[in-house]
Amino acid sequence: VSTTVAVLVGSLRKASINRKIALGLQQLAPASLSLEIVEIGHLPLYNQDYDDNSPESYTAFRQKILASGSVLFVSPEHNRGMPAALKNAIDIGSRPYGKSVWSGKPGAVITASPSMVGGFGSSQQIRQSLACLNVLTMPNPETYLGQADKLFDPAGQLTETGQALLSSFIEHYAQWVQRF
Ligand code: FNR
Repeated sequence: VSTTVAVLVGSLRKASINRKIALGLQQLAPASLSLEIVEIGHLPLYNQDYDDNSPESYTAFRQKILASGSVLFVSPEHNRGMPAALKNAIDIGSRPYGKSVWSGKPGAVITASPSMVGGFGSSQQIRQSLACLNVLTMPNPETYLGQADKLFDPAGQLTETGQALLSSFIEHYAQWVQRF
């Protein structure tokens, strides 16, 4: 039986490196995992006034996370932190109070950036929020992909190095998920 993995991509742009990484992971994942990107770009900014009567987009998003066996965050870093779109999605899933869809799910975080830093600051922030929400985040391998644009060839395909890195990550993640 394969575990569904809800994949949240922290970048909204079409040519996103992080989206390409998410798609690469989808291809390279072992049969025990089934990765599905859950879109977050259309979600209105979280507002607690909506808790009693949520927009349809919130409800659909929450249901997708709830129905998935695990969660994977693939994100860039915006000004040394997690992108607002991703924080918004995390917040939406965490409410109404007592009805969080995150609790108890095994999770993992990958950050990627064309710079050398590799999204370390973003990863730390994502992990901090996930800890509070009782997501069981894989501690290792910590994966901050610096110069991540170089993991793809000019045709946009993963290089051998890129494939090896992402394969190793997703194999570790499959083992992590199996523990729960
Ligand atoms: C960035 N970028 C960036 N990079 C980084 O390594 N550390 C940072 O703090 C930031 N800050 C930042 C803020 C904002 C508002 C933008 C738009 C960009 C650059 C970023 O890593 C680069 O644009 C990536 O290509 C974004 O990821 P995607 O869209 O390719 O997935």
